[in-house]
Formats: sequence, C-alpha cells, structure tokens
Amino acid sequence: MVEVSASILSVKPKEESKTFFALEKAKTDYFHIDVMDGKFVSKDTYQKMFEYASYIKRISNTPLDVHLMVEDVAEAIDEFSAVEPNIITFHYEACKSEEDVEKYIKLIKSYNCKVGISVKPETKVEEIYKFLPFIHTVLIMTVEPGKGGQTFLEDMVEKIANLKKYIDENNLEIDIEVDGGINLRTAPEVKKAGANILVAGTAILKAVDYKVIIDELKLD
Ligand code: DX5
Ligand code: ZN
Repeated sequence: MVEVSASILSVKPKEESKTFFALEKAKTDYFHIDVMDGKFVSKDTYQKMFEYASYIKRISNTPLDVHLMVEDVAEAIDEFSAVEPNIITFHYEACKSEEDVEKYIKLIKSYNCKVGISVKPETKVEEIYKFLPFIHTVLIMTVEPGKGGQTFLEDMVEKIANLKKYIDENNLEIDIEVDGGINLRTAPEVKKAGANILVAGTAILKAVDYKVIIDELKLD
C-alpha cells in the first residue's frame, strides 16, 4: 500500500491552520516535518517546524513524520520527541561514525518512535545496508535537501529499485520513502521502482483539491 506524507515546509504564512486542517481532511497519511538547522543545509526552519508540529499534535491524530536535516542529530531527536512523532528520520551524512548511527537509532527507539535513515542523492544506498535490519524506513532524497519546489532527479529511480531488490532478497520489512520533486508525473516511476511512502509538498499545496491529488498519488 502506498502512503502520502504531506510536506508542510512551504505552507503560506497566516494560512497554516486552514492548510493543516484541509490536509487532515484530505487524509494525508502523515504530516512531513522538514527540520533544517542552517548548518546541515543553509535554511533554518527549526523553530517554525517545532511550532507547527506542536500545534498539529494538539489538534490532530494524523501521525507526524519528522525529517531531520541537522548536524546535531541527538539534540534534535531529544527536542522533537516531545511532539511524539510516529517516525524520526536522520541523515546518514550527519553521522561521523558507525557508532553515531547506532547511537541515534537507539535514541529514537527509546522514544518509542520508528527510525528512518535518509541518504542524499550523491550517497550510495549500499552504505547503510548494514543498518537495515534495525530500522523501519529508508528515506531516499530525490532532490538535494534544503528547499521545496525542486526538480526530481531521474537517476534516483535506479537507486530506489536497487534498494527494493536488496530489501526483498533479504526478507526485510522496510518502508522506502522518497522526498523531493514528487508529483503526478514522477509518482508512477518511484512507485514502480518500489517506493511506498511519497513525500510531496509543492504538488499538494498547489493543487486545487488536496483530496484528489493525494488519492491520485496513492493510486497503484
Ligand atoms: C527538501 C525537503 C522536502 C521538500 C519536498 O529538503 O526534505 O520534504 O520540502 O517538497 P517538494 O515536494 O516541493 O519537492
Ligand atoms: Zn523532507
């Protein structure tokens, strides 16, 4: 089954609550929270995303999918655990050693949260294979992390397919989430390659009817 995680990175100021309610009503499976620290990527959305996530948590039961694009992963895990996310994903590139990766996996689990590891477009997905038995989701970046509204990188389709093949061959149960430039044109190819959680920001927020686009993104 394919699920949709609506990125609220580019929600218009003053339209936040209206937009969050409309997304919930349109049955997004998750709210995707893009946490940026101004260091791992140049933008800083840290406070804003904490406020958005806290607000959504107070009024909605739709799960939160927190995507940490930060250097200080442990600190962000500790802080965002307060909004009780369903999943927290950190970047493999933010880890200095294998011990770091292990430490963050365990820390996220200590908050009863699912664990995701994300890889940037230039990072080989094979580098994280050894951690797959211990995590729930791999988030394949299909654009450079840092901002919404970018163009999907076609080379990532093969990366998704290779990961899917490895997961199946090794009988692992792991979600493949894709993030960046997902729309009605690119969704079919990522789903065919094996992705089952689609993050979409611009495509959903620009649509006239959130329900229609979310349903179409999910179609098999
Ligand atoms: C990029 C973020 C994405 C992004 C998705 O760094 O991780 O979640 O906001 O937005 P669109 O769908 O506009 O590419
Ligand atoms: Zn994201």
